[in-house]
Amino acid sequence: MRLYSLLAAAKINLYLEIIGDRPDGFHELVMVMQSVDLADRVTVRSLGPETIRIRCDHPEVPTDGSNLAYRAAALLVEEFPNIMAKYGGVEITIEKHIPVGAGLAGGSANAAAVLVGLDLLWDLGLTQLELQTLGARLGSDVPFSLVGGTAIATGRGEQLDFLYGLDGLWVLLAKYRQLSVSTPWAYQGYRQQFSHTYVSDDVSRQARQARVRSGAMVTALGRQDGHQIGQALQNDLENVVLPAYPQVDRLRQVMAEMGGLGTLMSGSGPTVFTLAATLEEAETLKHQVSERLADTDLELWVARFTPTGVRLMD
Ligand code: C5P
Repeated sequence: MRLYSLLAAAKINLYLEIIGDRPDGFHELVMVMQSVDLADRVTVRSLGPETIRIRCDHPEVPTDGSNLAYRAAALLVEEFPNIMAKYGGVEITIEKHIPVGAGLAGGSANAAAVLVGLDLLWDLGLTQLELQTLGARLGSDVPFSLVGGTAIATGRGEQLDFLYGLDGLWVLLAKYRQLSVSTPWAYQGYRQQFSHTYVSDDVSRQARQARVRSGAMVTALGRQDGHQIGQALQNDLENVVLPAYPQVDRLRQVMAEMGGLGTLMSGSGPTVFTLAATLEEAETLKHQVSERLADTDLELWVARFTPTGVRLMD
């Protein structure tokens, strides 16, 4: 029986600026995305019956058509209508390590892994560009999750401009187990409260990229300077999420007080991260944060910046 196993990495946003509304209800973004080596393991395997089946070891992950990984497989079946008649169905097994509903693009990473895995299992011969175009139809973060590394993301988040990555930075990630934040809610809240801060709607893609390229974050990445990267961290969604979730606000304050290179909420939250120069520093921060917030159901992970999104396992 043929099967492929893939590692699908989580991402953090080192920079997330909301620069406008879009007619499709989404928002124009300027982001810097970074993959970290906290990864799910996704396996695709041929099935006799012509069906898509999802298995996952995490109770909160749906196994029906609402799972983005399922939708990735369904999209390929739609694009290649006879594919199951030739190859049979597929069983997708997701071993979850990336926290769910966390602002770390775990669902997008799983969908990206399914696209890569089924391209192999079904001998589709898709190019990287074709995979990215299909990925963008599934979700704004899927194109980045496919390739990973370090990238400027504009538009909805699907237009990518890759940067030289930064090897060796570490990150402490923290999330309350029971808490998740609705991404549409966070963006709508931002629109309601902060749309007066938007830059002009007619700014071209090139102008947006020029704007972020000349900004402090991309400059710091170019210099490979962890301290400057820590100082340039920015996420506009903090302005909506932190006032509404005092627990996350407090977590962010505690983590920032402990030191490290800089602290930020990732995506629409509620995961908060602190950058660290070494593994030892990240482990020390982990210990300090868990001692300070010992009475809570906080989950903590130490991870490293990684240059890959989806990676085929041997
Ligand atoms: O693209 P994705 O399905 O991951 O987006 C989830 C939600 O986040 C969207 O339904 C939308 O409410 C919000 N979003 C947005 N602008 C973006 C990306 C996401 O408003 N650029």
